[in-house]
Amino acid sequence: MNKRPIIIDCDTGHDDAIALLLALGSPEVELKAVTTTAGNNVVDKTFHNTLKVLSHIGVTDIPVAKGAESFFFQPHKIADHVHGDSGLDGPELAEPSFGGVKLSAVELIEKTVRESAEKITLCPMGPLTNIATFVLSCPDLLPKIERISFMGGSAVGGNASPVAEFNTWQDPEAAQIVLKSGVPITMCSLDATFDAYITAEEKERFRQIGNKAGILTAELLDFFGKFHAKVGNKGAPMHDACAVAAVINPALFEMKRANVSMDLNGTFTRGCTTTDITGVTGRKQNCDVTFGVDREAFVELLYSAVKNLQ
Ligand code: BDR
Ligand code: CA
Repeated sequence: MNKRPIIIDCDTGHDDAIALLLALGSPEVELKAVTTTAGNNVVDKTFHNTLKVLSHIGVTDIPVAKGAESFFFQPHKIADHVHGDSGLDGPELAEPSFGGVKLSAVELIEKTVRESAEKITLCPMGPLTNIATFVLSCPDLLPKIERISFMGGSAVGGNASPVAEFNTWQDPEAAQIVLKSGVPITMCSLDATFDAYITAEEKERFRQIGNKAGILTAELLDFFGKFHAKVGNKGAPMHDACAVAAVINPALFEMKRANVSMDLNGTFTRGCTTTDITGVTGRKQNCDVTFGVDREAFVELLYSAVKNLQ
């Protein structure tokens, strides 16, 4: 099978960690590099969390780089109420057994894309600062990007404000640069990702796999699930894993073509992804937007991936 080369840009985070496991355990994709950004927590912590997760499952040969510590215009706000003080509370993970590369996130993306014989798919799952910086600094490499499959945005509703999703709300200017890049884009929006949840019963199936990755998944869900139960969500939504799942099997999602543009100036709506599926704005369609997910098939995909790992 021809594996699709991908780069994950993340702010690890519980659902980011599970997205990494999905990528590493799926034969359809090859994780070429991981870059990290400020988002759920400060970048020093999201970088460290990424190294800890990879080390825990014995993956120490993938280059990991530290990226943006701040955003284009807006101050950073961490989400410790969701992910805890460390940004990845819950599982007790040992210190990483390897370090990151001595390149910035953007340099690592540039190097990986430049050296690749095949086009690369980018899977961002945090604020889009690193990706926007890459878009601005390496326009010659954009034809080598197969697609950007990002977790972020929403057509209806939000989780950081009544209308804005956390990742696009953190760095709206970066999101706008990416949306205008001309690269094919899948927006794995809250409209579907809230339905890509794992129930308490399913969580126990992961634990019962008995390998490190399965137990880690269950322990991540123990912590993450508590927050989501408290706020009335159906289960623990695997927002970020959708960005990878949509690359592995786009048919899992109900997609609609749309123009997505950032609201940068609204008094109450800044960071919102205005999503035009009817063409009323006359703006060019730039995204495939997820509006639904086959939840059970998604959970099975994740289950098989986790089973394939240590
Ligand atoms: C996004 O916000 C973060 O807290 C999650 O990791 C995910 O990327 C969901 O809105
Ligand atoms: Ca994330």
